[in-house]
Amino acid sequence: MSATPIALVYGSSTCYTEMTAEKIRDYLGADRVTLINLADSPLADVQPYPYIIMGIPTWDYGELQEDWEERWPELDTVDFTGKPVALFGQGDQVGYPEWFLDAMGYLHDKLVVRGALPTGYWPNQGYEFEASKALTSDGQLFYGLALDDENQFEESEARIQTWCDQLRSEWQL
Ligand SMILES: Cc1cc2nc3c(=O)[nH]c(=O)nc-3n(C[C@H](O)[C@H](O)[C@H](O)COP(=O)(O)O)c2cc1C
Repeated sequence: MSATPIALVYGSSTCYTEMTAEKIRDYLGADRVTLINLADSPLADVQPYPYIIMGIPTWDYGELQEDWEERWPELDTVDFTGKPVALFGQGDQVGYPEWFLDAMGYLHDKLVVRGALPTGYWPNQGYEFEASKALTSDGQLFYGLALDDENQFEESEARIQTWCDQLRSEWQL
């Protein structure tokens, strides 16, 4: 049994996703959440945890952040069957409106193929962008918590808290 029930795995090039990861850990409780930075640790470290949160920023016009890109093949080495996974993304809806949070969409699609149980979908109200690969087919929900610290930093704290409460309820923690 792992020390905490939740692994929070993330990649972060300029620390926005890392700061979000720390806020989520603090809000859910450090006794419940272990942080795993993909710059230092393999993705397979998530395997023993019953619940997984993944943080992924989008870079370079709809591309994966570099640590996620490097670790991507490791997603095939983890057994995600039936495992509750929740995603959060950092992006810039003003600077990159045609690719807003695309990487979160790629990660979601990969996890579904790998048998994970996606949780923590998030309403798309309150954002302005042109296209995103991180939206459900009806366009109503993001595949995870959508954050834009570049343009909506003042909204992030409340969004994080609401999403964490949603996870507590979805996961019955
Ligand atoms: C060169 C560059 C390219 C970016 N491309 C995208 C993009 O395609 N889509 C998006 O939503 N955000 C994009 N962003 C915004 C980043 O996702 C945002 O700055 C994020 O907070 C970075 O997170 P990190 O510091 O955890 O790496 C880009 C930012 C930079 C500087």
